[in-house]
Amino acid sequence: MRRDLGLADGIHPLLAGRFSPTRFDASAVVDDGSLSLLLEAARWAPSAGNSQPWGFFVCRPGEPEYERVVRHLAPSSARWAKGAGLLVVTLARRLVGDSSVLYSEFADYDLGQAVAHMTVQAQAMGLAARQFRAFDLESLTQELRPNPGWAIVSMVAVGKAADDAADSRDRRSTADLLSAPWALPQ
Ligand SMILES: Cc1cc2nc3c(=O)[nH]c(=O)nc-3n(C[C@H](O)[C@H](O)[C@H](O)COP(=O)(O)O)c2cc1C
Repeated sequence: MRRDLGLADGIHPLLAGRFSPTRFDASAVVDDGSLSLLLEAARWAPSAGNSQPWGFFVCRPGEPEYERVVRHLAPSSARWAKGAGLLVVTLARRLVGDSSVLYSEFADYDLGQAVAHMTVQAQAMGLAARQFRAFDLESLTQELRPNPGWAIVSMVAVGKAADDAADSRDRRSTADLLSAPWALPQ
């Protein structure tokens, strides 16, 4: 199942070069202009019916909002996320208000695309991103109190990578992508 993740694969260098760091340079700042571009990249993601069911809470070291977020990190993510110049809490709008009516069947799917846009934009700007779920979802939700219908899904640490891609990175083969879902050959 292992495959080479080198540029020889022929995919775009921005995609080939992207990886999720486990160390960030804590001295590197994500400035206002960079933050605006990351949000702009997310804004232009496709979504079902152009529903755009995504939202974000952003904070940087030194800002009052930052303390509200970092205290909910799990020990595993706090180790590296605290070095990032920007933390992004991602939210999906799943329901209409406090009803059980779906706002979008594809809310989480579309949020993922918006975050993918953000991570590739980060890469293009010489930054790197590690998405993560290692935080206390319940206590962070209590802290930030999103509007009814909105759910916190994940977080993204963005900053200057201070390590290289791990040697252990691997991927399923393209053949497996096509065969794994089926019991019989298609
Ligand atoms: C939705 C999501 C949740 C993740 N949660 C964590 C996490 O809690 N802790 C962590 O260290 N990495 C987390 N990751 C990062 C993945 O482990 C990483 O993307 C994967 O190992 C592939 O490595 P790469 O991004 O360098 O290609 C998460 C990634 C995604 C997309």
